[in-house]
Amino acid sequence: MFIRIAGQTALPREKENDVPELGVNIDHVATLRQARGGAEPEPLMAAMAAQLGGADGITIHLREDRRHIQDRDLVLLRQAIQVRLNLEMAATNEMTGIAIANRVDMVTLVPEKRQELTTEGGLDVRGNLKGLKKHISTLKKAGIEVSLFVDPDTDQVRASLDAGADCVEIHTGCYANARGRRVVKEELLRIITASEEAVDLKLRLNAGHGLNYLNVREIALIPCMQELNIGHSIVSRAVFVGMERAVREMKELIRL
Ligand code: PXP
Repeated sequence: MFIRIAGQTALPREKENDVPELGVNIDHVATLRQARGGAEPEPLMAAMAAQLGGADGITIHLREDRRHIQDRDLVLLRQAIQVRLNLEMAATNEMTGIAIANRVDMVTLVPEKRQELTTEGGLDVRGNLKGLKKHISTLKKAGIEVSLFVDPDTDQVRASLDAGADCVEIHTGCYANARGRRVVKEELLRIITASEEAVDLKLRLNAGHGLNYLNVREIALIPCMQELNIGHSIVSRAVFVGMERAVREMKELIRL
């Protein structure tokens, strides 16, 4: 059904309007603030600038250990931003309650380990079907769209449908870390195959993790890709050119 990536470069986009939206993850603005435990930089300001630069959504990960984003950030963002608010979180009763109380637009469930630097792998949806179903159903009843962060693995995509999710976010970390044309191509094909499965099952298709200004295009060209969630590379570029421009540049690359 999909056009496969034929060589090393991606094929041109099939349809003009088949362009994914951009969710900007601002966790690392909060990481910088927490390094001194003070008031700056303010994540809300980063979100407003990202919005001006063309972000279609703002993503934050409220971690159990509150190492970067704090509860007050979520409250302020909910009040101030006009684009979609996507909350990344672990599937726990505490987090489900927080998501509902703050009326976030979307939740992305992720696995969470205390010692990790960042989210390391996708959810084992198949192995945690019962627990995930409960949280997904509670969130959906509250009118919140639910996405599951999964490795590019067709069985985990199928399990996401079984769990009742609306959407999957395909983990692009291995693709982003791959070195050498052959390995990059293999990782890309894994993502394309998992994406095909999601689209065939009528799940909304997102992707993210490790995407940057050099590797985003191939992922943005995957047909039916709805949204890319990008944080570290945009915040890193924003240090030099400002958030608004960093987001605008990423939007332009995604549109190419
Ligand atoms: N998507 C998910 C589910 C994530 O956990 C993260 C990292 O917080 C991202 C996207 C963004 O990854 P990066 O900061 O590498 O762009």
